[in-house]
Amino acid sequence: MKKILLVSFMVLSLAACQNNNKKEVKKDVAPAQAPVNKPAFNHKSYKMKGMLIAKMTFRHFKSKIQEIGQKEGLPAVVNFCHDNAIKLTDSIGAAHHVVIKRTSFKLRNPDNKPDIDEEAVLNEYAKNLEAHKPMEPVVLKDSEGFVHFYAPIKVKQACLQCHGVPGKDIHEDVYKVIKQKYPDDKATGFKAGDLRGIWDIKFLDKNQEVK
Ligand code: HEC
Repeated sequence: MKKILLVSFMVLSLAACQNNNKKEVKKDVAPAQAPVNKPAFNHKSYKMKGMLIAKMTFRHFKSKIQEIGQKEGLPAVVNFCHDNAIKLTDSIGAAHHVVIKRTSFKLRNPDNKPDIDEEAVLNEYAKNLEAHKPMEPVVLKDSEGFVHFYAPIKVKQACLQCHGVPGKDIHEDVYKVIKQKYPDDKATGFKAGDLRGIWDIKFLDKNQEVK
């Protein structure tokens, strides 16, 4: 089948512009328990790398959003995201030999559409959220043998100005630009704590076998 569940660990919430936690993920943060069926590759190392890359990407977004938001206002940020969000994730990904994707069931940009593996992860997180269970990052192998790191993206208060309720959380001027750039936008109506989507970080190097 498309993938094998290998491991799921610490609770972590990563998202564009949500994360004020400046602490770096440290190697010794990893929990002590070993998985029952030890995978053939170093899942822990992929998980650490995935988390660092997601955090780094998030920080890039956040600093850009703050910079442009302060200078030109939120509608300009929407324009910026429209022109640069995917380019930004692509260029950070290329620098780390990974493919970085943010996806969701409620999309703003249809180019971020989930594939079948991402849908499965999204469904799993949605179920966990409903059952009040933690949504933990996972490392999975796809049918072609590529390792993926997935982590939930949760909605924070700050996201609501572009993903909340139009007219209430989203200012009219901002919503106008959103509708103009994304006529098919489905990414509104969220509230803090909702599952906005997931990170999918695909490692292009298949040869990182480690004991
Ligand atoms: C200034 C407005 C703005 C803010 C604030 C904002 N977003 Fe977005 N978001 C956008 C736009 C515009 C896109 C579409 C980007 C693209 O074209 O790829 C988007 C896309 C996304 C996507 C990709 C999936 C999709 O629907 O295309 C995720 C995930 C996401 N946002 C999460 C968040 C989270 C989480 C926060 C808060 C931490 C946040 N956003 C804050 C405007 C915003």
